[in-house]
Amino acid sequence: MNIICNQSLKAFNSFGFAVQAEHFVSIDTDDELIDALRIANDNDWPVFLLGGGSNLVLTQDIKGLVIHQTNTTTHYDKQSDGSTLVTVDAGKPWHELVLETLDNGLTGLENLSLIPGNTGAAPVQNIGAYGVELADRMHSVRCYHRPSQQWLTLLPDDCVFGYRDSVFKREPNQYVITQVVFQLRSDTPPVLSYKALARAMNVISDRNPKVASSNTNPIGTGPGEPVAQAKLISDTVIRIRQSKLPDPKQLGNAGSFFKNPVISKDHAEALKVSHPDIVSYPLGDGQLKLAAGWLIDELGFRGIEADGVGVHTEQALVLVNRGDGDGQALMALARAIIDRVDKEFGVKLEIEPIVV
Ligand code: EPU
Repeated sequence: MNIICNQSLKAFNSFGFAVQAEHFVSIDTDDELIDALRIANDNDWPVFLLGGGSNLVLTQDIKGLVIHQTNTTTHYDKQSDGSTLVTVDAGKPWHELVLETLDNGLTGLENLSLIPGNTGAAPVQNIGAYGVELADRMHSVRCYHRPSQQWLTLLPDDCVFGYRDSVFKREPNQYVITQVVFQLRSDTPPVLSYKALARAMNVISDRNPKVASSNTNPIGTGPGEPVAQAKLISDTVIRIRQSKLPDPKQLGNAGSFFKNPVISKDHAEALKVSHPDIVSYPLGDGQLKLAAGWLIDELGFRGIEADGVGVHTEQALVLVNRGDGDGQALMALARAIIDRVDKEFGVKLEIEPIVV
């Protein structure tokens, strides 16, 4: 195990902010993890667990020991009910996993294509897109619980998943997720509830009527078809994401910077009077979810730049590092957006990534 001093984290966070880790170690096995935690404990170093760094705002150097997992193995275990348990090491890049499961004839993760980051970090914010959340597909998480020094297998209920939320996010640095297990099938019904996705799929199926028969369940009946359909959904999600979301390798970002806020029906009705075009989705419990991107866009923030950071030109929900920005400048911009949105709409935006 090689502990590096003063390691730059520029390449380890998708914003590309150039902060340093006081100490940094890459680990590959359970034993190395336990060793690294012991060394940190012996030296009184705080521990920071770094995944793919794609949901992180680094505003300062990190004291203590940064632990980075690099293990990427995937293990497939066919079950008697026809499903397959896929056990994935934490360091496996998420999108590689999605493509690999599809190539292995397994469906269910296609709507989550092209989400940046590593698999071990995916349960932390319960990644979600185009009508599917990680919690819908996850079987269990294997993790090391630092306070009790025990290895645990947590089921979805134990993870207390919510919208971009989990026990791992609420109790930071307590759990080290080393493996995530998914239960996948070759015939998961496609999820096309998200309008933009259904529309894009319909455009494709209009060109090729064999592909789809309706916009809610355009799945074929032959044995190989669900997988072909899932691959088509994956390709379509990739296209939509590429058109709206900047590639972190080209323009530093952490995907959606704010959560879509939930407000009461009364509040929404008042806002619809003052802002008739406001985008909202009923949640079925009397509350509504607002498109935070629309709120920010409406206030004219889309495309703005300040101190090396800015708001993405194609999607106002995404804050970007224009190349020479830092975490402090980004947080100043975020605070300005939060204040304006609150003043104009009476809505308090919550930051989605973890701020350090
Ligand atoms: N909109 C605007 N202007 C903008 C951005 C959006 O008017 O600048 C409007 C759009 O026209 C649309 C609505 O806002 O009517 C929603 O936009 P979009 O479909 O792009 O989805 P989103 O609410 O912005 C959420 C997730 C994304 C996820 C997509 C698809 C959150 C915080 N974000 O974005 O997740 O990919 O839906 O499911 O829930 C992420 O978490 O990093 C992420 C990208």
